[in-house]
Amino acid sequence: MASGHPVGWLIERLLALEPLRQLLFWQARRLIIRTAERRGIDWRARREHLRAQATPLLQSSGDPATSTPSYYRARFHAYQLGNLCWQAACEAEQATDAMALRIWPAELLSPSQAQQRLRAAIMAAIVPSLSLPVRRALDLGCSVGVSTRSLKDWLDEREAADVRVEGLDLSPEMLAVARAREAEAAPARPIAAWHHAAAEASGLATASYELITLEFVCHELPSSATAAVLSEAHRLLRPGGVLAMVDQDPESELIRRLPAPIATLLKSTEPYLEQYFSLDMAAALQAAGFHSLRREACDPRHRVLVAVA
Ligand SMILES: C[S@@+](CC[C@H](N)C(=O)[O-])C[C@H]1O[C@@H](n2cnc3c(N)ncnc32)[C@H](O)[C@@H]1O
Repeated sequence: MASGHPVGWLIERLLALEPLRQLLFWQARRLIIRTAERRGIDWRARREHLRAQATPLLQSSGDPATSTPSYYRARFHAYQLGNLCWQAACEAEQATDAMALRIWPAELLSPSQAQQRLRAAIMAAIVPSLSLPVRRALDLGCSVGVSTRSLKDWLDEREAADVRVEGLDLSPEMLAVARAREAEAAPARPIAAWHHAAAEASGLATASYELITLEFVCHELPSSATAAVLSEAHRLLRPGGVLAMVDQDPESELIRRLPAPIATLLKSTEPYLEQYFSLDMAAALQAAGFHSLRREACDPRHRVLVAVA
């Protein structure tokens, strides 16, 4: 990532001034929403719809016993309250689709085609490491359930069974929207449970899953939290179970060559991105007790790391 670049440096200085920061983010946000709407993502209408559907589910989506680590309260993605607000939750589905579309800019994919292609590539990267039949799987940092639903559909088909798939997230708003999206889709085989907990302190039973996924979560964590989440995942997996994590690939040419203004803006909306990029993930996985690490690029920007407990 470009740092120390004169344009990046200038943007960093501008972002340090609060009114300018707000103006820049407002402009960037407007551009993101307009671009997404031009590509077929009904950003604003969908936000209002999800908000109306999810509001009645908020209270029952949070566990009062769950404590929220202070790093999680940081400002993410230019949302003042980070992941702990309606706006973030009601725009997460659209942002996920927009992210999938950006992976293949030259192809005229629909949002759902891009999303399906992304998730299929992630799942395909997991397959060579799976040795146990998967009866129970957990999606850590499930957000509004896009990753959880794709995991469930894929596992049901692969295992020819109704696999018990659960989602876990620290944001009650995200979980309320996940439940609203499930209710809307009314699938024949629903997600078995939505847990409100920190991924590093799930409160779930030891050795109860054969597969755990962490999709696009680690770049939102300081390194110490990543280490704690990996240890918790190791505890939750049965011996021989598999952890799969997908996120930005620090070695991807596309990421290394991001134009300085974009790289600086990105870093300013992702408080732990630098820590994520400099963390030796293979060493962190090994320290948490994992072995047989495999690494695959699932697309030009992202890598899947798969390891066995
Ligand atoms: C970018 S979203 C992931 C989206 C989803 N997994 C997908 O692939 O579509 C990151 C999610 O991780 C959650 N998260 C971040 N830190 C967490 C933690 N320590 N414990 C549980 N969830 C966490 C956030 O609330 C957010 O919903």
